[in-house]
Formats: sequence, structure tokens, C-alpha cells
Amino acid sequence: MPTVRWLAHGTSWETTVELGTDLRAASKLVEAPEGDACGGVCACSTCHVYVTKGRELLSPAEEEEEDILDKAFDVRANSRLGCQAKVMKDGLVEVEVTRESLDAFYNEHPQAIDPRKKKH
Ligand code: FES
Repeated sequence: MPTVRWLAHGTSWETTVELGTDLRAASKLVEAPEGDACGGVCACSTCHVYVTKGRELLSPAEEEEEDILDKAFDVRANSRLGCQAKVMKDGLVEVEVTRESLDAFYNEHPQAIDPRKKKH
């Protein structure tokens, strides 16, 4: 089975997934902090991640995804929307959660502690 690993603020989360699982759905299995303000319908870009390993294991980006990524912050060559990128081959997919996505996640989950915020 493929493995997906998320990296954010010095922490990592990892899980195995069934083929065909999208990164957003996979993040929920381990409560990795990936935002999803639109609920995964390709309308917000808050699930924006950088794929640091295993890009070739993912489904190719469709035009709809590219259109939404055009509106995202700090888009790079390895940017994907977690709700659109599905794991299609066995192996390791590693993603770095973008600041945009972290901000959205902690806004959506006020009970979760954002380690980026210093305690006073
Ligand atoms: S969750 Fe909104 S575009 Fe992916």
C-alpha cells in the first residue's frame, strides 16, 4: 500500500492509504493539519501542499485544479491541491503543508493547538 507523509512545523504524520485516495482524505486519517475550507470540491486552495517526494505517484493535475492553484499563495512547481491529487501508484508520497493550508486548518480547528504560535 502507498504511504503518505505530511511535514509541518517540524512534525510529521504518516499513514498508508488505498490506491485512489486523495491527499485531503488521507490527512484526516492521521489528523495531519491540512486545511480544506471548501470541503474538497476544488474551490478554495486551502488544501495547497508542496509534494516533496513521489509526485509521479499522483494523478495528474486537471485544468480545474490548475485554475484554483493560480489563486493560491506562493505556488511552486511541486504545488498540488490535496483534495484533487490522488495516490495512484504504490510508494512514498511526502508533502509539506503550505502556510496557507496551515492557517486554514488552525482557523477551522480552534481546539487544535498551533505550534507556530508562541506561548506567553
Ligand atoms: S479543499 Fe478546497 S480546493 Fe481542496
